[in-house]
Amino acid sequence: MRKVIISRDDLAFAWKLVWKMRHGKEKFDQEKFMKAGRGYLYNYAEQNVGPLSPGRRAFLKGVLIGIGVVTVASALPLVSVLNPQEVTLKSFPWIVIVDSNGNPIKASTFPVNEPTIMLFQYPMLGDITFLLNMGDENDKPVAIPPTKVTIPQNGATYDFPGGVGPNKSIVAYSAICQHLGCAPPEIHFYPPKYFSPGGNVPNFLPSSAYQAAVAAGAKSIIHCDCHGSTYDPWHGAAVVTGPTVRPLPYVQLYWDQDTDFLYAVSMNTKAPPIMDHTSDLEGAAYLDSYDSKTQCGKLILGQNQKPSNCYTELQSDGNTFSGGS
Ligand code: FES
Repeated sequence: MRKVIISRDDLAFAWKLVWKMRHGKEKFDQEKFMKAGRGYLYNYAEQNVGPLSPGRRAFLKGVLIGIGVVTVASALPLVSVLNPQEVTLKSFPWIVIVDSNGNPIKASTFPVNEPTIMLFQYPMLGDITFLLNMGDENDKPVAIPPTKVTIPQNGATYDFPGGVGPNKSIVAYSAICQHLGCAPPEIHFYPPKYFSPGGNVPNFLPSSAYQAAVAAGAKSIIHCDCHGSTYDPWHGAAVVTGPTVRPLPYVQLYWDQDTDFLYAVSMNTKAPPIMDHTSDLEGAAYLDSYDSKTQCGKLILGQNQKPSNCYTELQSDGNTFSGGS
């Protein structure tokens, strides 16, 4: 079974592919891609980067939705071809969040303001999500309170429940930009040290984004390099600057105090769905650990089960956490 955290290998693969598409000898032909669809992309990736396992193909569907973005017009069909909605969930599963070795993330030791982003997939394969531990400019955890988030597109609002964990500082947001779907490495998290007086602004952060973040009073931001959309992770990933008109959807987390493990448990259906989804319950493919009967043995909990109960059963069954998807 696959792990919930996207592996370094997958990310390295994605970065290499992005680079080849933009700068390689064999340029990625968007017209061919429009005609031939994902098959062309997979062939291109195999010829220019390396073999694709079925899991990596599914990963590419979600992760690479922004890579060919040259113009707005060409990006739109890319999004729809690469990220088709093929399967539906009856409800949101409980998924333990594990590291690249398959070990559950411990909330109390999860790095604050980690510059190297941590990603996991939820609720479907390819739905990549930031896991972030918010902190101040000295990297001390900061509680993220509940807030109301406005959707600029239509003026509607929804509730963001705030952070979880021992300091209520851990949050999770979709890592797929709500403008046209660019994903890591195009979309970045910037911690408060860049925005405090005398902060060292990274030269790859456009000054317009920096100024807008400062003007909005944002302590840290998530910024998308593709066209400049900026989000505020301290306030439910609300929009700071467009062109996006929709906040990043959040993943509701549960912190099990007994084990210190973190679970992805739900999404808010009043928030905009993940980019190019009509619903967060629809996606390209199930996580490998998903069991439609909600079996605890696959790290998905029944309605009245506590995560720690589930783990007790798992461990007594001789299973390991490496199966967490
Ligand atoms: S895809 Fe356009 S700003 Fe992110």
